[in-house]
Amino acid sequence: MSTAAATATLTSSPFARRPRAPRGGRRTVRPCAFHPEVARAVESLQAEFREVDRALALNSSRVSAAFRAARVAPHHFGGSTGYGHDDAGGREALDSVFAHVVGAEAAIVRPQFFSGTHAIACALFALLRPGHELLAVAGPPYDTLEEVIGIRGSANVGSLKDFGVTYREVPLAADGGLDWDALACAVGPETGCALIQRSCGYSWRKSLGVADIRRAIDLIKMQNPNCKVMVDNCYGEFVEISEPPMVGADLIAGSLIKNPGGTITPCGGYVAGKKDLVAAAAARLSAPGLGVEFGSAPGHVMRAMFQGLFLAPQMVGEAVKGGLLIAEVMSAKGYRVQPLPRAPRHDIVQAVELGNRERLIAFCEVVQQTCPVGSFIKPTAGETPGYASEVIFADGTFMDGSTSELSCDGPLRDPYAVFCQGGTHWTQWALVLGEVLKVI
Ligand SMILES: Cc1ncc(COP(=O)(O)O)c(C=O)c1O
Repeated sequence: MSTAAATATLTSSPFARRPRAPRGGRRTVRPCAFHPEVARAVESLQAEFREVDRALALNSSRVSAAFRAARVAPHHFGGSTGYGHDDAGGREALDSVFAHVVGAEAAIVRPQFFSGTHAIACALFALLRPGHELLAVAGPPYDTLEEVIGIRGSANVGSLKDFGVTYREVPLAADGGLDWDALACAVGPETGCALIQRSCGYSWRKSLGVADIRRAIDLIKMQNPNCKVMVDNCYGEFVEISEPPMVGADLIAGSLIKNPGGTITPCGGYVAGKKDLVAAAAARLSAPGLGVEFGSAPGHVMRAMFQGLFLAPQMVGEAVKGGLLIAEVMSAKGYRVQPLPRAPRHDIVQAVELGNRERLIAFCEVVQQTCPVGSFIKPTAGETPGYASEVIFADGTFMDGSTSELSCDGPLRDPYAVFCQGGTHWTQWALVLGEVLKVI
């Protein structure tokens, strides 16, 4: 970077100390990229940002230790073809790093998982057998799981219901958190799996902290020690300094184009947890008998999965700061936000209730226009496979649909909330919010 460029960058920082005006001279005008209301919010959030960095450093240190323990080296990025038998230990090393990072006995991290929904479905099918009940303990599960469970969609596509698995839900408490009294007597002898969704999904609800997840697991296991606990970990990874397997979850699953892909992993997902259960999930991804030993991946994908995981704590930290800023700015404008401004974060999602269809679409249009990729594309609401409602997505991202990159989306249904997430640096949201304030 040239000296001139470096000076320009420094002076445009909202934190750079304002240079003293020379005696009798003119004050230097500092360029600032932010809308004044956004700049004020940024100034007021410095203590919260420092707290995010504290968690980030602890998570980065755990990730680095896991890389060293698995002796990750360039040959792991070599890639493989066909069955994947010529893999030079990359898959094994990646699985081992991931398991170490989330405190699990084992993990399977693969580009062959299409999405978070696919990884979660493999985990659920690994845990449940005909005659079992699936119990969702945090209200309705994420929209795309409805067809996996069989509470929506056609019969005979191989949903859990088709295989004789029944389903029940513990509704959320009035404050949007877990209903502890209901959960204390909800688990029966036939409950084969309790599903805990860590993040809010498209519901106006609280996301769950790892402390809440621990309490829920203890309650579930007290009622039925054989009931397995599966956590939908999408959007929760690295937001706190511990992960659900560290507090007793049997399995967790998620997507690599969300938090643990660090914004650069091009595809894939993971399942982690108890060794025998991860093996069963691997058999659902591949086939019984093949397990984790198959599945090739090109070298550039292997490298991106390692590097994305290494970067993930940092990117998640930036996304959390972005969420804090959105909450601060939008609530100051009178919009309801979830989580509340400055409340502790348990995922990277920040919801804003916009109240009507037009405002939701306008918000998404501004975000899309401000994105680096496809800024000229007008997002339109439409039907998306897996979703019952029309959904609108603004994702001018380098990876298609990546929500670790700056993006927002929402179903076109009451209360017309937009769900914002991602970003490689909080300043991206600061810039987007400036544009949003001009329109909303
Ligand atoms: C809580 C939660 N679980 C699962 C999913 C499904 O993930 P994917 O879109 O990768 O299938 C989402 C998607 O946003 C989500 O928010």
